[in-house]
Amino acid sequence: MSRFWSQVARELVPYVPGEQPKVAGLIKLNTNENPYPPSAAVQQALQETVLDTLRLYPDPASSALCEAVAELHDVTPAQVFVGNGSDEVLAHAFHALLQHEAPVLFPDVTYSFYPVYCRLYGIAHETIPLRDDFSLVVEDFARPNGGIVFPNPNAPTGMALPLMEVQKILRTHPDSVVLVDEAYVDFGAESAVVLVADYPNLLVVRTLSKSYALAGLRVGYAIGHPDLIAGLVRIKDSFNSYPLGRLAQIGALAAVRDQAYLRHTCASIAATRDYLVRQLSERGFTVLPSQANFVFVRHEAEDGALLAALLREHNILVRHFRQPARIAPYLRITIGTPEHCQALVDVLDTYFLFRSQTGNLMACE
Ligand SMILES: Cc1ncc(COP(=O)(O)O)c(C=O)c1O
Repeated sequence: MSRFWSQVARELVPYVPGEQPKVAGLIKLNTNENPYPPSAAVQQALQETVLDTLRLYPDPASSALCEAVAELHDVTPAQVFVGNGSDEVLAHAFHALLQHEAPVLFPDVTYSFYPVYCRLYGIAHETIPLRDDFSLVVEDFARPNGGIVFPNPNAPTGMALPLMEVQKILRTHPDSVVLVDEAYVDFGAESAVVLVADYPNLLVVRTLSKSYALAGLRVGYAIGHPDLIAGLVRIKDSFNSYPLGRLAQIGALAAVRDQAYLRHTCASIAATRDYLVRQLSERGFTVLPSQANFVFVRHEAEDGALLAALLREHNILVRHFRQPARIAPYLRITIGTPEHCQALVDVLDTYFLFRSQTGNLMACE
């Protein structure tokens, strides 16, 4: 705390990102990154970039990228907004579209950045408890609100909401912006982008960090009615008019154009997910049904924090959340390559064998 901090800075509770350690040889299954490289087209596009162009500011509107995204989703460029990672797109959406008198609603177990944006922008919020099985029941959102936000699939559960249910929310709340955060949709859920034409209150947010393997480039986008997009642009142009550098625009454009590669890597990850689900289920884990590039699991007898610490000792990072309390027994495990997942299963097997022989916690090497 410093006497120079503003009241906002003093009262914030910042989001804590997953660890990004600089340890060689680590198997990183903690921040839902893609285990495969980006499309070769991205590398080629970046290599062809002439260094001298970096003297000049980039296109503030990222027009070529917006056009490519629009073409991909069969919408107009006026229905597309791009930002420096979907976190920035979400931040602008909270600021531009969700700051009203009534509280914003989101599930109690969800992406933990949402309450942080609420605090940052002074937005009241209420959490809607997911059911005991972590399912989202759309009727539970039937209360006055200044907007509704949820990821689909949800994070950190990985559970997807069918499109019909998303449509029900949109129909029941025509006067609220409904923001569907589709960070993980390419791994198997139904996208709400097809509903944008019918619902002027729908904003769908996507990222290139997960399915396109471009977490390091920081590119995300939103699709919605041109009026919603214009609101986002007003905030962006009052904050940072050049959110995407030249390299980000060039790389993202090449990635978006290579849909064959996207489909191929997402299919590989879904197949590895099926394999890991089977392996973990056979070893006493309850695995929530995931349509994402991660699984949310709890062991019938072992503590989540303890298993995370055990895996870490063996250079495998997974994510464990202490809050809210009902998810503390769980681990969120990103789907890596088949080899990564096998390494994780092998560590668990060694540990369970040791446990069955000695009854001791930890200490197995
Ligand atoms: C649900 C959800 N939304 C958005 C993001 C932000 O992604 P990025 O800022 O990398 O686009 C994440 C990142 O983990 C996420 O889990």
